[in-house]
Amino acid sequence: MAHQDAAFQQCINPTCAATYAVDQTLVACRSCGGLLDIRYDWKKLPVPKNLNFFEHRWSTKGTEAEGRADFSGVWRFRELLPFYRDESEIVTIGEGRTVLQQADLLARQLGMKPGTLMLQYEGLNPSGSFKDNGMTAAFTHARMVGAAKVACASTGNTSASLAMFASLAEMRGIVFIGSGKISFGKLSQALDYGALTLQINGDFDDCLRRIREVAADAKNGIYLMNSVNPFRLEGQKSIMYRVLEARDWVSPDWVIVPGGNLGNCSAFGKAFMELKELGLIKKVPRLAIINAAGANTLHELVNHQNLKWNGGKYDVSLVQRHYAALDEANYKPHTVASAIEIGRPVNLAKALRALDVMNGVVREVTDGEILEHRAMVARWGFGCEPASAASVGGLHKLLDEKVIRPDESVVCILTGHELKDPQATVNYHIGDGPKGKLSNRPVPVEDDLNAIIRAMGN
Ligand code: F0G
Repeated sequence: MAHQDAAFQQCINPTCAATYAVDQTLVACRSCGGLLDIRYDWKKLPVPKNLNFFEHRWSTKGTEAEGRADFSGVWRFRELLPFYRDESEIVTIGEGRTVLQQADLLARQLGMKPGTLMLQYEGLNPSGSFKDNGMTAAFTHARMVGAAKVACASTGNTSASLAMFASLAEMRGIVFIGSGKISFGKLSQALDYGALTLQINGDFDDCLRRIREVAADAKNGIYLMNSVNPFRLEGQKSIMYRVLEARDWVSPDWVIVPGGNLGNCSAFGKAFMELKELGLIKKVPRLAIINAAGANTLHELVNHQNLKWNGGKYDVSLVQRHYAALDEANYKPHTVASAIEIGRPVNLAKALRALDVMNGVVREVTDGEILEHRAMVARWGFGCEPASAASVGGLHKLLDEKVIRPDESVVCILTGHELKDPQATVNYHIGDGPKGKLSNRPVPVEDDLNAIIRAMGN
């Protein structure tokens, strides 16, 4: 049982810091328009004294609702996201049972020592991406407030996850996707799970702007599921809890994550902010956020314009000037990693905070680097979609730059399953473009035994 009176929403802008009850449905501060956090008065809450507490839940079964919560890789950490009233409200489909794999073969390719590189396979979630971690939390909140229609704009994974949870929670799911901007695996999921799928003639940034307009008008009765919804990010914190758990609660030196709308990295920052505050960990890992070069707003602002969190008083006018210049140049983000093809990341401010909390860095990787590293993860791991491989491409770059040493412990977050975007994989291997280092063409053979045996190299 959670203590809902100890949870509240709060504007992250320190000069505003307005608070709201958790049963309100908000996607921005009413007073200043800033992003909202879910905050807790930990003193009133039953927080475990140490993180080992959570381990027994792998094997225990409580009452029906508690047992289902224990089974979830998100809710077995529920004392660290206690915004709900009662376990029976939790909307779960067994998300978050993902693995951290020690990737020595890939480490060798990158010149790292054995035992140093770990891959967190979030593609093993029910809908095939890390988004399920956040959706279970936001749907739990949606159920708490009695929402009937839920919607999001998406580059694909959020829409797949939303559609799956909407069906589970018996709510109407509506997804806005950019026309021609979504991989087939993801589109097929939204359709299959029964969501109303609107293909807007524009890109992700256009879709998000529109859905926010629609959701802002209460008479449309829309509960917004994009990561401006602070409850989403509460669920996404659990990725870091699982990483820590798999490492016996010892922080790695680095966590590397692709950056799109910057919700995931923001959630990681919040997770460590809270664990530190609660005295539950000794060391906070460093964070690397990796943009695609074709959608590199964060990289531009942080590395070329020196944008910093600055205790929450970051230079908003600098961001506005940057966006105005992008508009002036009619800039549209473009990358083969369609999941992170985003020009105006809505969680920018929270990502700056995460960089501050985790002493982070930002890098960009080209489409070529993304495709080569995606192929490497498949060849020496068990695969991920292009956007996810930005993390490994970023690691490679940071090793080359000697920002990361080959003996440091590194966790790369692989956000989506390889089968989300089979087209990208097939193009790499047999497409007309330049041959990849690991391109592996099928060999045509006559239906003849000798020819087949010859083709097998015998
Ligand atoms: N990796 C994948 C596979 C994604 O689908 C996304 C985001 C990201 C990384 C970036 O995460 O936005 O938290 O920085 N996909 C969103 C979507 C935008 O609509 O599915 P982020």
